[in-house]
Amino acid sequence: MSVKIAASILAADFLILGQQVREAIEAGADYLHVDVMDGHFVPNISFGKMVISTIKPIAKDQNKMIDVHLMITNPERYINDFVEAGADNITVHVETCPHILRVIQQIQESGISAGITLNPGTPVVQIEETLTYVDHVLVMSVNPGFGGQSYLPQSANRITQIKNRLIKSGLSEKVEIEVDGGIDLNTAPYVIKAGATVLVVGTAIFKNGSIAKNIEALRKAALLAGD
Ligand code: DX5
Ligand code: ZN
Repeated sequence: MSVKIAASILAADFLILGQQVREAIEAGADYLHVDVMDGHFVPNISFGKMVISTIKPIAKDQNKMIDVHLMITNPERYINDFVEAGADNITVHVETCPHILRVIQQIQESGISAGITLNPGTPVVQIEETLTYVDHVLVMSVNPGFGGQSYLPQSANRITQIKNRLIKSGLSEKVEIEVDGGIDLNTAPYVIKAGATVLVVGTAIFKNGSIAKNIEALRKAALLAGD
């Protein structure tokens, strides 16, 4: 699986969001990553379906996927809203779903792909039973809630644990492993070597100079790390 880049719009300049999203897509971002936070499951409030439906036409025009990361309690109540707004993938936290397989089924029955994610403090074994059902596994490499945090080094080992479980079940070509939080030119090689196939990147794309150059540099780093 070649390495993909998901641009996390949490770090974008919202005054010119459309422009920045276009720039990221033109520079080759594979997905647009949208972080929905409720101020309850995580200690921050971000944005919701209105932002997704606003950027949807830009993504659709270029055949790019909108990857929605729900950091909210009771995510099952909002799946339809996010699907209607234009999500192509919805990822939910295992910590928020006592009936996780039902929620995964609900997302897939809406006609889009489903992902599972877990906080850095949640043992990997807690998502084990979901691996045969999901389309994506997202490994949080920071505690969710804010952009711009430092990568937690134990994340590479957690990615490898998940990768090995996927290989064992013959699913490693089907299920993407995304990594989210603190990914930049320095940390990308570690997570790619560990088995990540999608890099979610906010700050290192939007907050530091040219979006196009930042994506190009990440792409090169991914190639060097064994893309
Ligand atoms: C954190 C979010 C991330 C965040 C990543 O809760 O899930 O997607 O935007 O941002 P950076 O790249 O700034 O760590
Ligand atoms: Zn995210």
